[in-house]
Parts: sequence; structure tokens; C-alpha cells
Amino acid sequence: MPAKVRKAVFPAAGLGTRFLPATKAQPKEMLPLVDKPIIQYGVEEAIHSGIQNIIMVTGRGKSAIEDHFDVSFELENMLESRGKKELLNIVRAVSDMIDVSYIRQKEALGLGHAVLRARELVGPEPFACVLADDVIDAETPCLRQLLDIYEFFNAPVLAVMEVPKESISAYGVVDAEPISHNGCKDRVFRIRDLVEKPNANEAPSNLAIIGRYVLTPEIFHSISNVQPGSGSEIQLTDALRHLLRSRPIYAYRFEGKRYDAGDKLGFLKATVEFALRRHDLGKDFREYLRTLEY
Ligand code: G1P
Repeated sequence: MPAKVRKAVFPAAGLGTRFLPATKAQPKEMLPLVDKPIIQYGVEEAIHSGIQNIIMVTGRGKSAIEDHFDVSFELENMLESRGKKELLNIVRAVSDMIDVSYIRQKEALGLGHAVLRARELVGPEPFACVLADDVIDAETPCLRQLLDIYEFFNAPVLAVMEVPKESISAYGVVDAEPISHNGCKDRVFRIRDLVEKPNANEAPSNLAIIGRYVLTPEIFHSISNVQPGSGSEIQLTDALRHLLRSRPIYAYRFEGKRYDAGDKLGFLKATVEFALRRHDLGKDFREYLRTLEY
């Protein structure tokens, strides 16, 4: 039986330059999609996938994330004294959600480096890694889908999706061979090779890595052994390539819709679609959109 995955690492130390000036004094992970910070979507996905511990890798200027997942006595007292029960429940649900540990990445040296910072907190067990910028709407949480594949193959698994050639160079890309699994022939892949942000003409396929991973603890050794790569940063993709020499790694083309909330257009799309789906807002918002002339 493969060891149970109990922990999820959330690298959250990035500077969020794509959202300046909004992110000058506020972490990008706290930008709200409708009324919930981006990072809370990822945390809820992890919890609904059976994860018990969240490890956030943060940096300077990220204390709002810690405050968000902490108890807010003043706010709770105020809401309680004013009899605002519904709001009180919403606020409490966030801090009651789960235990979160924090570790700092002092310098932004890359995703691989951020994951390596979590080494002590993860210990010698498999773990999930969630890039909160990738918000995934799915019937079965994307991470749960990946964990099922991990449990079957007892090997690291990466989420992938097909992306058009013109945007492939923004991603890690896999060269992978489809494997038949549960009667399905086009969801599970055994990875042959992977490369971080290749030129469109050199990309080995159109299967891009999306920010959900199930990793085994050997990845830490591999991260320590790779040199800075794309963007002069220590890349997780390069470490996975190193690990691939000694063990099989799988990719899973997940079911669900992914939004790139780290990008302005992706963020807007997610905001509009999530708002349209809300019971309390959807109808009025849809009517409002219909009145716009463009
Ligand atoms: C990171 C990873 C990349 C992956 C992407 C998914 O890149 O390095 O392999 O495809 O997330 O969102 P970033 O977007 O942080 O540059």
C-alpha cells in the first residue's frame, strides 16, 4: 500500500508583479475571486481531497495570508455582538478549516527552491504540491483525482492539460506515453521526459503541467541536485526530470476547468464565471452583463 498523503505544500512567496499595483502591499494570493481569496480555493480543494496539513511557503509581505487562516477575535466579537450569525460562521469556517504551518522562502529563487524549503515540515512522506494561481473547478477535486492515480501506481503524479501551441512556452511540458487505466486510454500517461518553458517549436507535446503535483520525498534530493534553469531559477520541472532517471513518474489529464488566476485575463474570466454560478449573485449579474454594450 502506498503511504497516505497527509500534507500539501503551497508555494506562496512569489512577488505578484503581474498584478501591480494591487500587489504592492498585498499578496497576490489574497486577491479575491468574487469574495474569497485565490489561495482559499486551493486550500479548500486540498481539504476536500483528504489532506490534513497545509504547509505554506511564504515570503516578506505575506502576513495577510497568515492572518486570513488565523482566528480574528476582534472581528468575531464584533459580529457576535451585532448578531451577524451568518457572517460569523463564514469567518469561523476559514480559521477552523485546517492546521497551517508556515515557512519562509527568503529569496525568490524558483518553484523548486520554494518546495525544498518545506523539506523539514514534510519529512519522509509523500506530499501534494498546489500552485494556488491555478484555480480548478471540478466535480471531483483535481488533487483527489491525482491522489487516486498516485495510490494506484505508487509513484509521483503531475496534473496536465492540453494547451494551444502559442501558449505552450509558459508551461512545463511533458513528453509522455498514454497508458490504459480503468478502461480509459487518454488520461493517464507515463512520462518519458519533461522540460520547463520550451520554445513552442521545441515543445515535446501540447500537454502542459498545471499546478497540482503528488510528490514523493526523493524529490528533495533531486531539487538539491539541479542547477538554476529557466529564468535562472531552481525549477521543480528540472528536479522531476532528475528524479525520472531513478523512478517512473505519471501525468494525469484531469477532469475539470482550470483558470489561470495569476494572469489578468484568466483572473477576470474566473471572476465572471464564478460570479455567474453563485446562487446569490448569478441571476442579477447575468442580467447586468446582458445590458452591457460592447
Ligand atoms: C509553474 C511551473 C510550470 C507549470 C506552471 C503551471 O510555472 O514551473 O512547470 O507549467 O507553474 O501554472 P509558473 O507559472 O510559476 O511560471
